[in-house]
Amino acid sequence: MQVVIKANYDEISKEAALTVKQRLMEKPSFVLGLATGSTPLGLYKELIRMHKEEGLSFSHMVTFNLDEYLGLAPDHPQSYNFFMWENLFKHININPRNVYIPDGKVKPVDVEEYCEWYESRIKKFGGIDLQILGIGRDGHIGFNEPGSSLGSRTRVKTLTEETMQDNARFFKDPSEVPTYSITMGVGTVMEAKEILMVASGKNKAQVIATAIEGGVTAQVTASVLQLHKKVTVFLDEEAASLLKRKKYYNFVAEAVKKFQAIKES
Ligand code: PGA
Repeated sequence: MQVVIKANYDEISKEAALTVKQRLMEKPSFVLGLATGSTPLGLYKELIRMHKEEGLSFSHMVTFNLDEYLGLAPDHPQSYNFFMWENLFKHININPRNVYIPDGKVKPVDVEEYCEWYESRIKKFGGIDLQILGIGRDGHIGFNEPGSSLGSRTRVKTLTEETMQDNARFFKDPSEVPTYSITMGVGTVMEAKEILMVASGKNKAQVIATAIEGGVTAQVTASVLQLHKKVTVFLDEEAASLLKRKKYYNFVAEAVKKFQAIKES
């Protein structure tokens, strides 16, 4: 796991977007896993800028979103489908046929079959090349709340009270926050070839320290990333403030840059 600490949110957004750009240029048809929430917004803004100002093309890219609220139609302003179109897709040249987001309106009776279909689509495209993740204050990735099996696959998941409270800020009335979601499982996320996590702000400092430097546990599903072969975590100073080995991570980041320069010379 590489931990990259930057001065502020803008810098982590730019750095993370640069990784996406590099991967996209290496493989135009690459498969990108996407996350919602406030944290990836800066990264999406930067991708939009790269499209508009640098001509970065997304026309062959395929995307799979991590999760969606069960019960919300794609045009509901708080649905993750709506979020993705508003904050990224409508501003870039993505082919709408290449966009996959769990369908919040699938009937409860059909949901298991639907989740299997979602998994099979990911497989059909050869798996996710790069998965973007945020982290919830309770350590969730996607909607894999504490206690989610570390081998779980795409399925229905009940939200915790903490997540419902955190997400209530987007709804007119807190009672409108859905209780259920469809989310890729921890096992699904772990099959991505590469993972990029972004976290910002003081309110993420504790969970970041627990997930990165604590033990691997289903009580903090993000901690399982310690077992993944290629993860980069981009943090601002505030989110990194409770890490014990911060000095070493900064040392590694510099050393990696130097090593890269040696390789290229
Ligand atoms: P946030 O959400 O980026 O809005 O903090 C993160 C998450 O719940 O995964």
